[in-house]
Amino acid sequence: AVLVGRRARSRRKWRRAVEVLREFEEGCVTSIGRLRQVVDAMAVEMHAGLASDGGSKLKMLLSFIDSLPNGNEIGTYYALDLGGTNFRVLRVQLGGRGSMILSRQVECRPIPQELMNGTSEGLFHFIAVTLKQFVEQQEDDDSEKKPDEKKVLGFTFSFPVRQMSVSSGILIKWTKGFSVEDAVGKDVARCLEEAMTKAGLNMRVAALVNDTVGTLALGHYYDEDTVAAVIFGTGTNACYVERTDAIIKCQGLLTNSGGMVVNMEWGNFWSSHLPRTSYDIALDEESPNCNDQGFEKMISGMYLGDIARRVLYRMAQESDIFGDGAYNLSMCFILRTPLMAAMHEDDSPDLREVGRILTESLQIPDVSLKARRLVVRVCDVVTRRAARLAAAGIVGILKKIGRDGSGGVASGRTKGRPRRTVVAIEGGLYANYSMFREYLNEAVAEILGEEVAQNVVIRVTEDGSGIGAALLAATYSSNR
Ligand code: GLC
Repeated sequence: AVLVGRRARSRRKWRRAVEVLREFEEGCVTSIGRLRQVVDAMAVEMHAGLASDGGSKLKMLLSFIDSLPNGNEIGTYYALDLGGTNFRVLRVQLGGRGSMILSRQVECRPIPQELMNGTSEGLFHFIAVTLKQFVEQQEDDDSEKKPDEKKVLGFTFSFPVRQMSVSSGILIKWTKGFSVEDAVGKDVARCLEEAMTKAGLNMRVAALVNDTVGTLALGHYYDEDTVAAVIFGTGTNACYVERTDAIIKCQGLLTNSGGMVVNMEWGNFWSSHLPRTSYDIALDEESPNCNDQGFEKMISGMYLGDIARRVLYRMAQESDIFGDGAYNLSMCFILRTPLMAAMHEDDSPDLREVGRILTESLQIPDVSLKARRLVVRVCDVVTRRAARLAAAGIVGILKKIGRDGSGGVASGRTKGRPRRTVVAIEGGLYANYSMFREYLNEAVAEILGEEVAQNVVIRVTEDGSGIGAALLAATYSSNR
C-alpha cells in the first residue's frame, strides 16, 4: 500500500510538472494572427516615435548618418565596440574600390564586472588604456607607421544615445545590465576622447554609432540593397534607412541622400499583443530596469536562459522531477543562453548533453530522461516565441518602408518587378543558435508569404558592429 501511494503521488507530481509546461506554452502562443498584430503595432509605433520625441516607447533616434559606405573608402581606421559581454578593439585597412578590406586585426576583452557598475572615468580609462596598448602593438608590427599622425576612430556604443552630430551624443540610459550612473547625460564620445588624451593616445572619434548602425554600414558596403540591420545578441535592436521627410519630429532636416539611418531602440518596444507570462513579469520586476526594454526581455540572449530557468524552477517547486539539486534553479541567471541552446539542440537519443549540462553547470545530477525531455520542451517554447516575435519586428520595419508586399507599387516594386530587400543581422543569438535562426526565418516567410519572402534576404553580417564603425569613420572623417 505504501508503494502504491508513493507511485500515485509521484504520478500526480509529474502531472503538475507537465501542467506547468502546458500553461507556459499557452501563455507563449504566437499564432500567425497574433504575429500580424505585432507587425502592425511595430509599424504604428515607428510612426509615433518619428512624429514626436516621447511619442512612443520606440525612441527612433537620429544617427546623422545619411550616406552609407559603398566600397570607395580608403586608409587605416580604428574601431572600438562597447556594449555586449565583451568589448573589442579593431584596426581595419581599406583599399578602396575593387580591393575593399585589405586587412583587419581584432582584439577582444571581457569587461570586468566592477567597471560595468562603477564610474564613467573608470570605464573610459580602462578602454582608452586597452586601446592604446592595441595601437602600439599594431604599430610595432607595421612597416609604414606614422606615430605622430592623429588616428581616426569609429566608436560603437550600443546603448540609447541622443546624437548631436555623427560624432557626438548623450547617453540617455543604460541597458543590458550596465549601470555607470554618472555617464548618463554625458557626451560619451567626449568622455572617450578625454580618456584617450590622458592616456597619451593621439586619436579622435570621427563617428559615434550604435551597433545596429555599424552592422547596416557593413551590410551596405557588401550589398547596396541592404536597408535595415538587426542585432540579436546580449540585447536586441534594429535600425533602418528612413526618408527624411518622414521624420516629422525633425522638420527641415536636409540630407544629400534624402534619407537618414534611424536607430529604433526596439528593445523597448511594447504592445498589448505580445504574449506575456507571469515569468516575464517576475523577470522584469526583479531586473534593475523594471518596465524598460520589454521586447528585449522576451527576445535577447541576456534573458532567454533566465526565462527558461524560471519555468524549470516552477516545475521543481511543484514536483520532484529535479530531485535535491532543484535549489540551484532559484538562482537568477545561472542558466545562460548558450547553455540553454546547447540543451535545446542536443540530438542524442538519450539527451546526454542535457544531462551533462544539468549536472555540471547547474549541479542537478541524475535527472530522468523523461524530465530531460521536458527541459528541452521548455527551451523550445522560450526560443520559438522569441524568434517569432523578432520576425514580426522585422516585418514591421518592412511594412513601414513599404517592402512587405502589402501596398502594390509602393511596396517596393520598381517597374512591375519586385525589389530586393536585404536585412543585415548580427549577434551570437542568431549566428550560434540554429533553432532561433530557423524559427525566425520560417516566421518571416510565414508572415510575408512565399512570394514576397523570396525578395527579402536575411543575411548574417559578421563583425558588422566593429568593422562598420571603422567604415563610417572613413566616410565621415573629413567632416569635422
Ligand atoms: C540594447 C541597447 C541598444 C543595442 C542593443 C543590441 O538594446 O539599448 O542600443 O543596439 O542592446 O546590442
